Amino acid sequence: MHSHGDPASSIDAREHWEEFYDGKRPWSGKPNAILVEEIGDIDADGKGALDLGCGSGADAIWLAQQGWRVTAVDIADAALASGRAHAADAGVADDAITWRRSDLGAEFPNGTWDLISAFYLHSTVTLERAAILRKAAAAVKPGGTLLVVGHWAMPSWRFDGDPPAFPSTDDVLSDVGADESSPWTVVRTGLSEVPMTDPDGNPCTRTDNVVHLRRDE
Ligand SMILES: C[S@@+](CC[C@H](N)C(=O)[O-])C[C@H]1O[C@@H](n2cnc3c(N)ncnc32)[C@H](O)[C@@H]1O
Repeated sequence: MHSHGDPASSIDAREHWEEFYDGKRPWSGKPNAILVEEIGDIDADGKGALDLGCGSGADAIWLAQQGWRVTAVDIADAALASGRAHAADAGVADDAITWRRSDLGAEFPNGTWDLISAFYLHSTVTLERAAILRKAAAAVKPGGTLLVVGHWAMPSWRFDGDPPAFPSTDDVLSDVGADESSPWTVVRTGLSEVPMTDPDGNPCTRTDNVVHLRRDE
């Protein structure tokens, strides 16, 4: 039986992601290059950052190392356990990152934030992505930053059939309610070619979709 507020679909999503992270994920230890590029110049100075769907925590750890007070949220305990262990290995203070298990579709953290980031918040199972991004936009403090990075095109070797359809930058802007009359300055929107290697070690690229907004003061 599922308790109130914990519908069967979120149980399935949780099981899916617990299995995904169950001790098998490779750890690059590197923050996402787009996060570093977009956020690296902001003076963190103990400001609050919320990482949505933090996975194994490389981005959260990098943010903490830059001086952000980070809340890192994921649906999977296995992801958070990995994040905690890597943060300890990296010497990050226990109180610099709050690791929080939550199905963001059912329960979005209370509070407001100087930075909210969502990297590859995609799923092949249930995920109320647009609603989550809308709540994220509402939780950014005046002067704060919303950074949403997603897949636009997967590298060709990943799929035999038709690649999945990913949201465009316009879709993301619409999801977060950013238009001419809304209190957002567009810092950057567009596509980013990300260098990587295929499983045989050959260089290739994938294309990411970047939406970086700043809430007006
Ligand atoms: C594709 S992974 C990206 C992970 C990480 N942000 C990164 O860049 O590597 C998507 C992440 O979203 C998490 N996730 C999926 N559905 C979620 C939900 N409803 N609430 C919270 N996290 C969720 C997954 O567990 C997974 O860690």
